[in-house]
Amino acid sequence: PLRATDMKKDVRILLVGEPRVGKTSLIMSLVSEEFPEEVPPRAEEITIPADVTPERVPTHIVDYSGNKCPLVGKSANVICIVYAVNNNINLMSFTFLITMFPVYFRLPLILVGNKSDLVEYSSMETILPIMNQYTEIETCVECSAKNLKNISELFYYAQKAVLHPTGPLYCPEEKE
Ligand code: GTP
Ligand code: MG
Repeated sequence: PLRATDMKKDVRILLVGEPRVGKTSLIMSLVSEEFPEEVPPRAEEITIPADVTPERVPTHIVDYSGNKCPLVGKSANVICIVYAVNNNINLMSFTFLITMFPVYFRLPLILVGNKSDLVEYSSMETILPIMNQYTEIETCVECSAKNLKNISELFYYAQKAVLHPTGPLYCPEEKE
């Protein structure tokens, strides 16, 4: 029999964000289950086979490094915008990243506050107004590539945003 999962397309997660926030480290931490002290600027695209993902869908993770507009965003179906919770959040750059292509290409979006190991506080107070402003934002998560906190959760949320979207993007009356 045809199961619902047979109809699902692959999940393609793109990580973007300011330089040095830990995009590559997050991917490498997920893959190796330990924090890599040294990382290349950009991780090779990785594919997680369906049977080891919680949603049983092949999942590709694409890293991004540099400051050109990542046109690769077109082929992604969820975008993770990574920031570092120990930096002052640059609202300008944040808004730029949000509007640049997630909104443009109508992709679900996850805000990822990395380096939670470095601070005692939460960045949620700063993030909440942004979340309320952009309905594309499915969820936000604070994590640490260093102590592996919330790493698998983050990629699970990204999968879920593609497979079980809740955002108003997907309201039947909006979808033509
Ligand atoms: P670009 O490719 O240059 O845009 O950077 P990136 O976002 O890929 O960041 P990268 O993974 O290269 O990490 C930048 C620095 O932050 C490195 O020195 C990492 O070791 C460090 N780093 C990454 N994640 C964490 C974390 O969760 N906690 C701490 N304390 N340091 C981290
Ligand atoms: Mg990188």
